[in-house]
Amino acid sequence: MKWFVAAAFAMCVLTPTAHCASSSSVWCYNLPSCNDSTWPKISPQYCNGTRQSPINIVSASATLNANLTEFTFVNYDSKSAMKSIQNTGNTVKVTFNSGVQISGGDLSENYDSLQFHLHWGNGSSVPGSEHTVDGVRYPMELHIVNSKSSYKGNTTQAIKDSTGLAALGFFIEVMPGNSSGKPESWYNLTSYLANITTKGQSVPIAAGFSLNDLLVGVDRSKYYRYLGSLTTPSCNEAVVWTVFKEPIKVSRDLIDLFSTTVRINGSASKHMTNVYRNLQPAQPVSTQNNSVTTNSASTACFSLGLLLSLALGSLTQHWFNP
Ligand SMILES: *[C@@H]1O[C@H](CO)[C@@H](O)[C@H](O)[C@H]1NC(C)=O
Ligand SMILES: *[C@@H]1O[C@H](CO)[C@@H](O)[C@H](O)[C@H]1NC(C)=O
Ligand SMILES: *[C@@H]1O[C@H](CO)[C@@H](O)[C@H](O)[C@H]1NC(C)=O
Ligand SMILES: *[C@@H]1O[C@H](CO)[C@@H](O)[C@H](O)[C@H]1NC(C)=O
Ligand SMILES: *[C@@H]1O[C@H](CO)[C@@H](O)[C@H](O)[C@H]1NC(C)=O
Ligand SMILES: *[C@@H]1O[C@H](CO)[C@@H](O)[C@H](O)[C@H]1NC(C)=O
Ligand SMILES: *[C@@H]1O[C@H](CO)[C@@H](O)[C@H](O)[C@H]1NC(C)=O
Ligand SMILES: *[C@@H]1O[C@H](CO)[C@@H](O)[C@H](O)[C@H]1NC(C)=O
Ligand SMILES: *[C@@H]1O[C@H](CO)[C@@H](O)[C@H](O)[C@H]1NC(C)=O
Ligand SMILES: [Zn+2]
Repeated sequence: MKWFVAAAFAMCVLTPTAHCASSSSVWCYNLPSCNDSTWPKISPQYCNGTRQSPINIVSASATLNANLTEFTFVNYDSKSAMKSIQNTGNTVKVTFNSGVQISGGDLSENYDSLQFHLHWGNGSSVPGSEHTVDGVRYPMELHIVNSKSSYKGNTTQAIKDSTGLAALGFFIEVMPGNSSGKPESWYNLTSYLANITTKGQSVPIAAGFSLNDLLVGVDRSKYYRYLGSLTTPSCNEAVVWTVFKEPIKVSRDLIDLFSTTVRINGSASKHMTNVYRNLQPAQPVSTQNNSVTTNSASTACFSLGLLLSLALGSLTQHWFNP
């Protein structure tokens, strides 16, 4: 997830770009000099922390938490909630008008929904979600960024709070069959990509489709929960993560538009591809439904697995870049 920068200047708070990140350092996804293997060095305060995101979610290890009730989504049905769409050089970001909110879902208070952005690989056949489930990476992942309403949109304060932000992660997978241009909400959204091919470009989004339209088909009562971080520098450990189990289904042609339309800089620069951070060491994950029994044997097994994956994870974080 891509967000704001720790010691952000006001102008940077809602426009995370490599330039804005220069208060710490410039980062990227695809150059050896600044890719995610360098983030713990160029942004060590948090990127080298111990509750970093994204993670691989092991479904059988998720513990039962009956407090993980449904969310209430405010203005997600509004056809004019989305304000503009921008190429940041590292992602495509859609900002919201005020009044979009979430609550419930075992969050401690209401959170304001500020923006969503996306992570992807290289077309529908080279997956690029940030989280994986049981080792499976999806073609894309959408992150809705929410900030505690009590901070009134001041994300500098939110990133200093270990639960200041709530991120909603939605996987995107290829719609079965040979459909194209579906669903219509995604056709509408992706039609703007041709207007923001170069870094920094931004255009208003016309009223006509809602967040609910984009999140079509997902049972939002089924999700994983863990405490983690921003997935881009400065990687602040301020995020309550919700990763929904069911993916949004989008036709192949529309998924492919992300890696073939928008560029990392000017019109001569590379297309934006593989815009996701590699996996970080495992964290305890909970969910509503779990068929795994919580007897002492499986608990011991879980703890051992956690230790092992932490150990392996730290190694992969620094030395293994698939
Ligand atoms: C990231 O950069 C490192 C060197 O800093 C390089 O070894 C690695 O292959 C790069 N990874 C990717 C995915 O480009
Ligand atoms: C990252 O943290 C580890 C463990 O705390 C430490 O050994 C390592 O030197 C740190 N790396 C950087 C670049 O700060
Ligand atoms: C559920 O909420 C109650 C009341 O806040 C709390 O005491 C309990 O620890 C929570 N359960 C879990 C699994 O977090
Ligand atoms: C992405 O895929 C296209 C077409 O399949 C290919 O030409 C291009 O080299 C790939 N880019 C990367 C960064 O792998
Ligand atoms: C956000 O909060 C910080 C710390 O309390 C304060 O210094 C800053 O001025 C606030 N920013 C805005 C835009 O209100
Ligand atoms: C999809 O199209 C291909 C040829 O373009 C065809 O062979 C295949 O049967 C189609 N699949 C479905 C599910 O319609
Ligand atoms: C798509 O956009 C058109 C034109 O703005 C609008 O009439 C239509 O309702 C939108 N449909 C969806 C599902 O987004
Ligand atoms: C996007 O580009 C198309 C084609 O150049 C143009 O007709 C349209 O007005 C642009 N839309 C916005 C919102 O800028
Ligand atoms: C990005 O594009 C701008 C303007 O076209 C140019 O000045 C700058 O040098 C480019 N940056 C890189 C890293 O290529
Ligand atoms: Zn993200």
